[in-house]
Amino acid sequence: MAARVIGSEHITDAAQRGRRTIEILPGDIVTPTARESAERLRVRLVDGPLERPVAIEADGATAARRSLYRRNPKWTSPRPHSARSNSKISRLALVGAGGVGTAVAHLAASQNIASEIALIDVVPGLAESISLDLSHASGITGSQATITGGTSLSLVADAQVVVVTAGRPRTPGMSRADLLQINRRVVRQVAEAVRTSAPNAVVIVVTNPLDEMTVEMLRATQFPRNQVLGMAGTLDSSRFRQALAEAAGVAAADVDAMTLGSHGDEMAPIVSRARIRGRPLTDYLNADAIQACVQNAITGGGQVVALRKTGSAALAPAHAIVEMIDHMRGARAGLVPVSIMMEGEYGIEDVVLGVPCRLGLTGMLEVVDIPLEDSEREKLQAAALAIRARLAD
Ligand code: 2OP
Repeated sequence: MAARVIGSEHITDAAQRGRRTIEILPGDIVTPTARESAERLRVRLVDGPLERPVAIEADGATAARRSLYRRNPKWTSPRPHSARSNSKISRLALVGAGGVGTAVAHLAASQNIASEIALIDVVPGLAESISLDLSHASGITGSQATITGGTSLSLVADAQVVVVTAGRPRTPGMSRADLLQINRRVVRQVAEAVRTSAPNAVVIVVTNPLDEMTVEMLRATQFPRNQVLGMAGTLDSSRFRQALAEAAGVAAADVDAMTLGSHGDEMAPIVSRARIRGRPLTDYLNADAIQACVQNAITGGGQVVALRKTGSAALAPAHAIVEMIDHMRGARAGLVPVSIMMEGEYGIEDVVLGVPCRLGLTGMLEVVDIPLEDSEREKLQAAALAIRARLAD
């Protein structure tokens, strides 16, 4: 009988059900991320077979669940993240009502992520029109969110989370770094409003160049590092997972992969820890195919800009932002790649870098040092040097 493959999703699922022990049968494959999750969620992995207690009648759901942990000749995709016990964001302020800000507002309203959603944009009438339009949808979606819109940054007042997408997007031929001077001014302006009117907010920076703008937000707000998060890794990891899934002909839900480092050319898709159906990439793809997926993750944003010509991606970034907010509010569990000011983790300090974090309602709870190959650690070091050099310009 084929061995089972136990991934981190199985551990998280078991923990959510209050299970504290999972029996590992001879021949089973437990992925490294599963072992990590088990340690973090305090689920014991015990070598079986255990003495069987007298079988009890199990209802259908329990029996189905048990089948998940039985040897299963067919891979069982980890369940999409089940609605964990989670909290709602009291007030979500979205500074920038362009493609990304509008998509985040739409997702937040339809998934009831926040009680209040405030959209802000310098273009007169834009944020107001989108918030009214989205409010009209509640007659269908049943969304309970109170949605407001305006041009004034005073709308960030008392926000629990502030998402900053304001600024110029890239156009063909521009690198993210080309936006530095223009968007630095925008970020400083927003930071001042957040510092004075939302001092306890967690700020999710999206404006490019992401790494540098996250540093800018930190400096201008003078917030502790846990309150200023750069959104990059969740987007770049999704692009990496999608590229691997497409190349291997599997569902994206069957791919576990993370991208760290910078949100630019020094991006580091982490091949050593990536898994397809719990197995190393080399079980499915040759070296060239894997490298092509790494490249697709790195250039994914630029590919969208080249096609769109008048701006950059909006929908995948919006989902990537919501993934971070879901981790903050407990709707998702586990580690998530976040651009954070480093304080010695991975041997790196005084620069913002994308690393695995645990998030909570106060922002970053912990930077987690995961096992990486030397070459991957070197990529993180290189990314840190490149970002520091750009900041020095
Ligand atoms: C991207 O990679 C906009 O930087 C964003 O699509």
